[in-house]
Amino acid sequence: MSYFRPQIEAMQGYVPGEQPREGSKVVKLNTNENPYPASAAVARAVQSVLERGLQRYPDPLGTAFRLRAGEVLGVPPDWILCGNGSDEILTLATRAFVGEGELLRLPYPSYILYKTLAEIQGARSEEIRFRDDWSLGAEFTADAAGLKLAFLPNPNSPSGTVIAPEQVLELARRLPCPLIVDEAYVDFANDHCIRLVKECDKILVSRTLSKSYALAGLRFGFVVAQPHIIAGLRKIKDSYNCDALSLAAATAAIDDQAWLRDNVAKIRTSRTRLTERVRSLGFTAVDSQANFVWCTHPTQPLKPLYEHLKKSGILVRYMPYTGWGEGLRISVGTDDQIDVCLTLLAEAMKR
Ligand SMILES: Cc1ncc(COP(=O)(O)O)c(C=O)c1O
Repeated sequence: MSYFRPQIEAMQGYVPGEQPREGSKVVKLNTNENPYPASAAVARAVQSVLERGLQRYPDPLGTAFRLRAGEVLGVPPDWILCGNGSDEILTLATRAFVGEGELLRLPYPSYILYKTLAEIQGARSEEIRFRDDWSLGAEFTADAAGLKLAFLPNPNSPSGTVIAPEQVLELARRLPCPLIVDEAYVDFANDHCIRLVKECDKILVSRTLSKSYALAGLRFGFVVAQPHIIAGLRKIKDSYNCDALSLAAATAAIDDQAWLRDNVAKIRTSRTRLTERVRSLGFTAVDSQANFVWCTHPTQPLKPLYEHLKKSGILVRYMPYTGWGEGLRISVGTDDQIDVCLTLLAEAMKR
C-alpha cells in the first residue's frame, strides 16, 4: 500500500542534469553553469554574515536584496519576491495558480520541470510545439477549460532562442491566465521583459542568479510582478525561504553590475566561437541568446557522441525529445573547455 497521493505515486519526478562527485576532474558543460567564479564581493558578504553569526532568522522578505535589485531593474521593491533558486519561484506560482485537475501550458521542447510541477499539483499539462522557427502559434494562447497558468522560458532551453518582448506582451494579452516568463538566461540575451510587467498584470518574470551571476551553488532566484501578485505569492512561501548567507551573497552579486557585464561579454564571445565551430563540424546550431548552444545533426546519431565525450571526462546534455528529435545542449564553458570538447566531438564523428 502506498502512503502517497495517487498523483505522486504515478509521477516519475524531475531528473536534473548529472552532477559528478565533488573533486572529480570532469569538464561540466551539461547544466549551463557559469565557468568563472562569482564576483569577489560575494565571498566578502558571506564572510561578514558568518562573522556576525547565524543564530538569528534571516529577513523573511529579503528587503536589502529587493531594494538593490529594484534599483538595478527599475522596479519598486514590493514588485519583487525572493526565492530559493528560481525553481522555487516556479513551484510557488504553480501552487498558487493551478489546482487539481486544472491545466498548465508550456511550449515544447522546453524546460521539463514545468510538467513535473503540474504533476505534483495533480494538474494537467499541455505542451504546445514551437514552430520550426522557434516561434509560437495561436494554440499557445487559445482558451481551454481549466487553463490557469502558462510558462514561457525566454531565452528558451534547449534552443537558446527568444521571443521578442512585443510578442510576449501580445501572448500575455491573449492568454486567459498568468504567463510566467522564465528569464533564467536573459542576461546573455539582447533584451528582456521586465518592463512588460508594468503594462500587464498577467506577466510574471522569473530570474535566477545561478547562471549569469555564477551562483548555481547558492540557490537564489526572484520574481518580478505587480504588487497584488507578489502579495498573493508571499502567502504561500515558507517564512524563511532564503537563508541569511544567500541573501547577503545575492545582494552583493546584483550590486556588482560591472562584474556581470564583463562576465556576460566573455560568455557571449565564447558562444559565437562555439556556435561557429559546431557548425563547421556539420551540426545545425540555431543562434543562441543563452549560455549554451543547441546542436542537432541531419544524419549522425548523437547518443554515441555524448557517450564518447562522457568517457573522456566531458559532460554535455544529450536530450531526446519525443516527436521532435534529439540534440546535444552544450553549455558555454571557458575557451579551453570548449576546445577540448570540440576536439573530442570531431574525433568521435570520424569513428
Ligand atoms: C529554463 C530554466 N528555468 C529555471 C531554471 C532553474 O534555475 P535555478 O537554479 O534558479 O533554480 C533552469 C535551470 O537550469 C532553467 O533551465
